[in-house]
Amino acid sequence: MAQPMLFEPISIRDVTLKNRVVVAPMHQYSAVKGFAQDWHLMNAGRYAAGGAGLVIMESTKVERRGCGTVGDLGIWDDAFIPGLKRCVEFIRKHNSVPGIQLGHSGRKARRFRPWEGGAPLTPDGIDDWDQWELVSSSAKNSPETDPTPRALTRDEIPQMIERWGQAARRAHEAGFDVLDIHAAHGYLIHQFLSPFSNLRNDDYGGSELNRMRFCIEVVECVRTYWPASKPLFVRFSVEDDAGWGPDQSVALAKILKPKGVDVIDCSSGGMRGSPVVSAGPVTYGYQVPYAERLRRDADIMSMAVGLIVHADQAEQILQEGRADLIALARELLYNPNWPMDAAQKLGVDRQFGSVPPAQAYWLAKRAQSVKSVVPSTFMKGMNVD
Ligand SMILES: Cc1cc2nc3c(=O)[nH]c(=O)nc-3n(C[C@H](O)[C@H](O)[C@H](O)COP(=O)(O)O)c2cc1C
Repeated sequence: MAQPMLFEPISIRDVTLKNRVVVAPMHQYSAVKGFAQDWHLMNAGRYAAGGAGLVIMESTKVERRGCGTVGDLGIWDDAFIPGLKRCVEFIRKHNSVPGIQLGHSGRKARRFRPWEGGAPLTPDGIDDWDQWELVSSSAKNSPETDPTPRALTRDEIPQMIERWGQAARRAHEAGFDVLDIHAAHGYLIHQFLSPFSNLRNDDYGGSELNRMRFCIEVVECVRTYWPASKPLFVRFSVEDDAGWGPDQSVALAKILKPKGVDVIDCSSGGMRGSPVVSAGPVTYGYQVPYAERLRRDADIMSMAVGLIVHADQAEQILQEGRADLIALARELLYNPNWPMDAAQKLGVDRQFGSVPPAQAYWLAKRAQSVKSVVPSTFMKGMNVD
């Protein structure tokens, strides 16, 4: 294998990532009334200290109504900035780039947490229930047993778009360097994109371009607040198995690129349950074909995510030109030091330079002095002989 691309730095606008390993956004269900806690600092911090080039903090909600469940992070008020800034500073101090995803759950808001079953929440114990309204592109629920959301009126849409812009301003003030707009997984922006959920007959519904309009205007508004020096990513459900697919995603990416979007973060599903399996069975790298398609046909950088588990697997995706960045979620829950481990397996960073010196010293010493010891994670990957 040639020199590993996974550990080649990459520059996007004025931001340089030291490697191509990205921590995918992951809800922590741990905020208190939207405010970041010590948990968020520890969690983002361990991934930064584990050697990832970019840590994208979870879907952080642009308004109260957008919270998916109890414990979502918020960014709908300036009061949230200091708590987020604390995480940003820690990530940066450990030589990683701080990123954040902005989100709004729309009709999928106000639910029990996944391990509680994920059903619609009940008002018990929620002191601001009346403010936690379900809104969407249309008054359509799915499944039919779910509460019906209220369709945003034509007049409310500009205010909603401005909330994304204000959230971007706050993310910048908190010091984040990368922004990822959540337009996937059946949440609010996706509810405008997909004909399955968008039944509007004004200029935000109907034709494909009309359904894209909300997303496009969110990007335009975000870009007015998010500095030109900083990268902007958008996460798509490239295939939702409900009328929105790769052709539409390519068309939208082509519109968004000249408006300042740098990377399409290629996911899938969420409109009618997830994940979708159009790409084939859900197995290693099942969404990589989407990242490959967007990169090739929309001529835009892409980020692959979804069951990327092994270092050699990640490296092969990059070597084959199927994506520019590799994002991991659950494997990092299993091993927050995955980037350090991958660097060993791919034969770079023998001195463990990607982790804090106080750890690198001891790890390098062990590697040099105790030749018969291999780390516990050192099992075979996808293509290791
Ligand atoms: C605990 C957890 C929380 C997640 N939260 C988010 C989120 O906030 N935003 C998002 O776009 N995806 C979220 N995801 C999806 C991941 O970003 C990722 O796309 C998915 O888990 C597939 O990648 P993996 O196979 O590496 O886990 C979450 C996944 C997990 C496991």
